[in-house]
Amino acid sequence: MTVETIVPEPIIQFLYVVASVLFIFGLKMLSKATTARKGNFVSSVGMLFAIVATLLYIGIDYKWIVVGAIVGSVIGASAARLVKMTSMPEMVGLFNGFGGMASLLVGWAEFHRITRGDAPGILFTLIAIALTILIGGITFTGSMIAYAKLAEKMETKPILFKGQQIVNVLVLAAGVLASILFVRAGNVAGYPMFAVAVVAALILGVLVTIPIGGADMPVVIALLNSYSGLAACAAGFVIMNNVLIVAGALVGASGLILTSIMCRAMNRSLANVMFAGVGASASEGPSFQGEAKTVGVQDAYLMLEAATSVVFVPGYGMAVAQAQHAVRELGDLLEANGCEVKYCVHPVAGRMPGHMNVLLAEADVPYEQLVEPQDVNPLMSNVDVAVVIGANDVVNPAARTEGSALYGMPIIDVDKARVCIVLKRSLKAGFAGVDNPLFFSPNTRMLLGDAKASITAAVAEFKE
Ligand code: TAP
Repeated sequence: MTVETIVPEPIIQFLYVVASVLFIFGLKMLSKATTARKGNFVSSVGMLFAIVATLLYIGIDYKWIVVGAIVGSVIGASAARLVKMTSMPEMVGLFNGFGGMASLLVGWAEFHRITRGDAPGILFTLIAIALTILIGGITFTGSMIAYAKLAEKMETKPILFKGQQIVNVLVLAAGVLASILFVRAGNVAGYPMFAVAVVAALILGVLVTIPIGGADMPVVIALLNSYSGLAACAAGFVIMNNVLIVAGALVGASGLILTSIMCRAMNRSLANVMFAGVGASASEGPSFQGEAKTVGVQDAYLMLEAATSVVFVPGYGMAVAQAQHAVRELGDLLEANGCEVKYCVHPVAGRMPGHMNVLLAEADVPYEQLVEPQDVNPLMSNVDVAVVIGANDVVNPAARTEGSALYGMPIIDVDKARVCIVLKRSLKAGFAGVDNPLFFSPNTRMLLGDAKASITAAVAEFKE
């Protein structure tokens, strides 16, 4: 490929700057539910600028780009249309992985050109290639495991084996050593070592993700997201493309910030998440005996009707049931009845950052009614009724018990409310696979069934 351009080079670089600015504004808008859609649009316009500018380079084989664009658009559009809202988190995980694989392929293509003598084997480029394939490979297989865990196609509990850390270190060392050797060779003789580095990165992605338990998945998803950005940034250095460097750095940095937010939400250090394999030895955690008290909609209605303060705690089950609009309607009826209504969202409730906030915003729940767990927990004993809608791990008091897989994770203390009504379909454990003693607590009432059906029935009782 030559570096000649259809329009003068400064115009292309200007278009790249415009694209980068649009990415930054788009990213900023994504941080609020109200501006998120616009942010998505602004970022896609930025991407359009970047693509058009890149296509202005002379010597590009347009035929393959058209084929790639058609195949990618068909897959992307059908995925966006067909995939259920509740499957979005695993879809995002999958796309993260594809980002890593795309970067790996860019690194491979450039190395191939170097081995054929079509590009100079500059040390800087070779080092960038090594980083691209290592980070890209880890991101790809790591994201595939994250996808399988989120889609519950594999065990969500940590998978540990004897000497795991040693094996991880050895595979990492093999990848780094092979990279040093192919960088030093810098020609076709380095190909076998290049292949070893790719395979080591792919294996390492699996090895570092399987020991991470269900409850810690938010941290891993954010970290893999960051890796996909770093891989793209390294790929940008491989082909010396400014917009790829900037976009990759933005994704890498925002992913790292999200990782630190998620670590704080889980009260865990990154090292603890990555290397402790929390939950494996604790397996099911302590088991709880006793009888769960079930109630019908009529009884739940009577408790709510008499309440002067109610806190709704949504979780992944609310997303599955799509109960957010019914919950808002019930909240409005309670308010009209003179009750103080609050919605408390745990930072890792659901399956992706901000999952519950998006659903509540979609149902137009007033922002002022949202409260943080740390604000509501000290006042929980004054709350008449805490209504748990399809949440489980984020309200599991087992998190206070040493030895539990959830130990140390801050929870919403619904068990301290005067009455706690839990809406779910069974007494099964949540995503982390840890039994929940809340269901057997003396002040808990289980309203079993689909959350939307139960809330809709309670709304009907109020209206009557
Ligand atoms: P979970 O612990 O996953 O529990 C959700 C509960 O919803 C299930 O126990 C299920 O019980 C119930 N449910 C499912 N469908 C329902 C329906 N139609 N109606 C009523 N209930 C229904 O949810 P959580 O408390 O929100 O915790 C989230 C978990 O996911 C945490 O462990 C978190 O670490 C992890 N995670 C979070 C993220 C992010 S970033 N948020 C990412 C990955 C993983 P039944 O089957 O008995 O109904």
